[in-house]
Amino acid sequence: MTHTLEELIPDYIQGLAAYVPGKPVEEVEQDLKIHAVKLASNENPLGPSPKAMAAARQALGEANWYPDGGSKRLREVLAARYGVRAEEVFVGLGSSEIIDLASRVLLRPGLTGITSEGSFALFAIAIRASGGKLVQTPMRNYTFDLDAMAAAVTPETRVIYIANPNNPTGTAFGAEEFDVFMKKVPGDVLVVLDEAYTEYAERRDLPKAMEIFKEYNNLLTLKTFSKVYGLAGLRIGYGIGHPTLVAEMNKLRTPFNVTSVGQAAALAALDDLEHVRRSVEMNHAERTRLLEELRKSGLRPVASETNFLFVPVAGMDAKAMCDELLHEGVIVRQLAWMGFPNAIRISVGNPEENSKLLAAMAKVMAQRKPAAAPVS
Ligand SMILES: Cc1ncc(COP(=O)(O)O)c(C=O)c1O
Repeated sequence: MTHTLEELIPDYIQGLAAYVPGKPVEEVEQDLKIHAVKLASNENPLGPSPKAMAAARQALGEANWYPDGGSKRLREVLAARYGVRAEEVFVGLGSSEIIDLASRVLLRPGLTGITSEGSFALFAIAIRASGGKLVQTPMRNYTFDLDAMAAAVTPETRVIYIANPNNPTGTAFGAEEFDVFMKKVPGDVLVVLDEAYTEYAERRDLPKAMEIFKEYNNLLTLKTFSKVYGLAGLRIGYGIGHPTLVAEMNKLRTPFNVTSVGQAAALAALDDLEHVRRSVEMNHAERTRLLEELRKSGLRPVASETNFLFVPVAGMDAKAMCDELLHEGVIVRQLAWMGFPNAIRISVGNPEENSKLLAAMAKVMAQRKPAAAPVS
C-alpha cells in the first residue's frame, strides 16, 4: 500500500504554523526601490562588539576544521562566571535551539507544555512540534499571569515556558512573584525561564536565576548572544540547568551545532563589558525618546524593559500601518500572528534609525487624523 507524503507526516507537524521572521532589509529595498531600516527583530543597532569581530575573523582562518563539538571552552567560561558546573551549561544554535530541545526531551503525544498567550512564538511551536499538547493561559495587562500558569499544571504537564522580560509585550515580573510561582510548580515540571532581554531591563528586582537554580532543580535559564552582545547572525545562545537535562539535550542536538566562529566571537564578546554598557546606555536613551515621541503622536506604547516597544493601535488597522511604514522605508513587526491583531512592535534602533521611524510615524498618523472642519 502506498501513502501520499501528507499521510506520512503526523498531524501535529502538518498543523504547525511556521515561525514568521522579520522582513530582511535587502528584500524590502529590492521590492520597493527605497532605502530601508529594520526595526523588526530586536537586534543590536550598535553592531557586534569589536573584540568579537576580531576573534571571529581569526577563527575564520581555521574554518577548515570542525568546531569544538561540545563548546567546551565557552561552557567553562560561562560556568565560572555563574558559579555553576560546566555540565550544567548547554551551548546552542541560538537560544531557539534550546527552546526546541527542552520540549523534544520532555514531551511526546499525551503530555502537555504550558506557556502564556502573547509570548515568544517559538514556545508554542516547540511544544506542538514535539507532539505535546499546548496549553496557553491568558495574559493580565500585557504581563504573564503566573498564578494562572501554575494553576494550569496537571499530572501530564512536563514543561512551562516563560520569557522575562517578555517578547513581544516588553513587560517583566519581579523576583518575589517568580518565587511564589516556583513554589507552586511541582518539582518534576521543568520551568524554562528565557532571559534574552534582561540586560535592558530598568527594573532592578528581576529574578536572580542562578540563585534560584541553586534552590530549584527544575529550572532551565536561557540566555542569548543575539541581543545585547550583537551576534544574532552567528546564532549562539546558552542554557543553564540540571546536568541530566543538559546531557539529554546533548544527545539530541546535531554534533557540531555551534560554529567555531560563533564560539570564538561569543568568548570575546563576554569580555567586552564596554560594548555591553554602551549598548544598554544607547537603548535606554533611545527607548525613552521613542516612548515620549510616540506618546506625543497620540499612541500608547507600553512601558518596556527591553530593546523594543509594544504599541497597541486599537481603532487603527495595524497591518495597514505596518505597510505604510514599510513604504516610508521602516520595517516594524505586525503582531497578529503572535496573538495581537491590534498592536505593532518597534525595535529600538540607533538615533538616526529612530528619527526615521518617528518621521514616518508622524506621516502615517497624520493621514489618520480626521480632516479639520472647514472654516466658514
Ligand atoms: C524571548 C526570546 N527568546 C529567544 C529568542 C531567540 O534568540 P536566539 O537568537 O538566541 O535564538 C528571541 C529572539 O527574538 C526572543 O525574543
